[in-house]
Amino acid sequence: MTYGFIGIGNMGRTLIEAFIEAGTCKPSELIIHNRTKNKAEQLAKTYPGLRVASDNRETVRESSVFFLCVKPGEFRNVLQEIRDVTQSDQIAVSITSPVMISDLEAWLSCRIAKIIPSIANRVCAGNSLFVPGTRLTKEDETYLWDLFRTISQPILVDEQHTRVASDLASCSPAFLACLMEKLADAAVEETQLPRETALSLVTQMAHGLGQLLTKGNFTLKSLQEHVAVPGGITREGLNLLNRNTGPVFNELIRLTHAKYENDIQKVQNSLFPKVKNN
Ligand SMILES: NC(=O)c1ccc[n+]([C@@H]2O[C@H](COP(=O)([O-])OP(=O)(O)OC[C@H]3O[C@@H](n4cnc5c(N)ncnc54)[C@H](OP(=O)(O)O)[C@@H]3O)[C@@H](O)[C@H]2O)c1
Repeated sequence: MTYGFIGIGNMGRTLIEAFIEAGTCKPSELIIHNRTKNKAEQLAKTYPGLRVASDNRETVRESSVFFLCVKPGEFRNVLQEIRDVTQSDQIAVSITSPVMISDLEAWLSCRIAKIIPSIANRVCAGNSLFVPGTRLTKEDETYLWDLFRTISQPILVDEQHTRVASDLASCSPAFLACLMEKLADAAVEETQLPRETALSLVTQMAHGLGQLLTKGNFTLKSLQEHVAVPGGITREGLNLLNRNTGPVFNELIRLTHAKYENDIQKVQNSLFPKVKNN
């Protein structure tokens, strides 16, 4: 089996590293291409045997499953380049939420899946959001599911929910890291605790929190109840957080969705430009 990767940016590289290090595939089973070729060549130096294609067409021609790891605005160029070399029995996996499966199926003759990863997949953790296209067979679905199960917990998601699910699964590592950094910075500002100590404390706390929620039989709710004894300091802190943080998360979800709608429109305009009538 040969896997192709188009776009070796943050996520293309993360997926390749995760698949190789999880033992899902050998470097010799991968063929990759990136617009700035140097990025692909650097990765090939790290993983001897990994092949760098001369262009996206070669990447597709040589692979059974290929991953489209470019940004939404870059899809048109890539699809234009590869559309006449795709075969009906190949599978294209898009990792991008605002490019609709129906649009990819209109452009390419192959089978399509949308599978949105998370940076957490780099350490074989977190979810991948699984949205099968209409041409995938049951065997294809099982195959892709098992492939992503080697680096993540795949979860079936309706295409209409990919944005909000991505907010929680893919963007939240950054959102929560931001909140943790703010908490550490506030501790430093208020008490002169060395910043290095503060950052180490919140980082180790997050590691333990993840383990408690995944392996320690805690839920988000039961964990809060367990730590916050009545009348204690944590309870006071939770009361303050509950009073002050609610609307910001609603605003966050509204903001990502407004940008998403805008991105969908831009992708639609670029993939299916309207012909101007004179
Ligand atoms: N980052 C995440 O955590 C994450 C999570 C889930 C999904 N995603 C999705 O993954 C997609 C990629 O995100 P990213 O963070 O990896 O972006 P990125 O770092 O900008 O990577 C995109 C890569 O695509 C390459 N590229 C652009 N046009 C190309 C072409 N015509 N042929 C070959 N390569 C081309 C770029 O090459 P150059 O070096 O020339 O710019 C760049 O290396 C986005 O749609 C994003 O929504 C990202």
